[in-house]
Amino acid sequence: MTKETPLIALNHVSMDYGEGSESALALKDIDLTIEKNEFLCILGPSGCGKSTLLKIIAGYQKPTTGEATFQGKTITAPDWHRGVVFQSPTLYPWLSVKDNVGFGPRVRGIKKAKINQITDQFLDQIGLLKDKDKAVFDLSGGMRQRVALARVLANEPEMILMDEPLGALDALTRLNMQTLIRNLWHKNKNTVMMITHDVEEALSLGTRVIVMSKQPGTIIKSFDLNYTYQALETDNHRVKVDEQYLEIKNDILDLINADLNEV
Ligand SMILES: Nc1ncnc2c1ncn2[C@@H]1O[C@H](COP(=O)(O)OP(=O)(O)O)[C@@H](O)[C@H]1O
Ligand SMILES: [Mg+2]
Repeated sequence: MTKETPLIALNHVSMDYGEGSESALALKDIDLTIEKNEFLCILGPSGCGKSTLLKIIAGYQKPTTGEATFQGKTITAPDWHRGVVFQSPTLYPWLSVKDNVGFGPRVRGIKKAKINQITDQFLDQIGLLKDKDKAVFDLSGGMRQRVALARVLANEPEMILMDEPLGALDALTRLNMQTLIRNLWHKNKNTVMMITHDVEEALSLGTRVIVMSKQPGTIIKSFDLNYTYQALETDNHRVKVDEQYLEIKNDILDLINADLNEV
């Protein structure tokens, strides 16, 4: 990969779920690049194609037109270099916490001692090392989501794709998980793309936020941010809300609302 090649590039990507005259356009002519180490947050009204965009980058979905590339190569299938975390953790209920986390490395044929080391490392990072022998059905929703994160991290992916990962969690757990996700991103130097419907979550985590229009989804605006770096430096890991923060938040809410109210 040359220095100029972005980690991810989408060129004129459209996704039409319909056939023939029955068009069901979900994404329309999306151009997007994601650079290494970015934390990109995606906001937009329900049904605007956010999950479709993520599935195309993950390799679960092939765009109808246009092209998506990873390190300059066309994305044709899912790949452990791009790990995905969904809203409901997709864990193997019959496996222990540590076996869930070690699953990917085991499938990839990594030696047992190395798997144990990787598993312990990431369970420690998510604060569940002491729970490694528990069954996943004994865990709370927040803990399960942490295991799902560790399972993706254990593959040491270039990129982590998250589709409303905190959407099902209560407000307090959610705040703690935001801090955890920010710290993991910073520590492991991953590239993250995260879909959320929470503007404050996007502002406090993202190095960039993009706002999408209602269906068919297009990118209406992109904001470069540094609140997540600020939060890394404060003791309480919270963003300092200043005038500019409130302006950006209002801008984003106006963009989403104006677009929804348009007849
Ligand atoms: N597999 C599919 N088949 C047909 N239509 C789909 C499929 N997946 C999503 N859609 C439609 O595409 C549009 C965008 O969906 P989605 O990407 O899930 O949006 P979001 O995640 O922003 O809510 C919606 O109108 C949805 O109904
Ligand atoms: Mg969705």
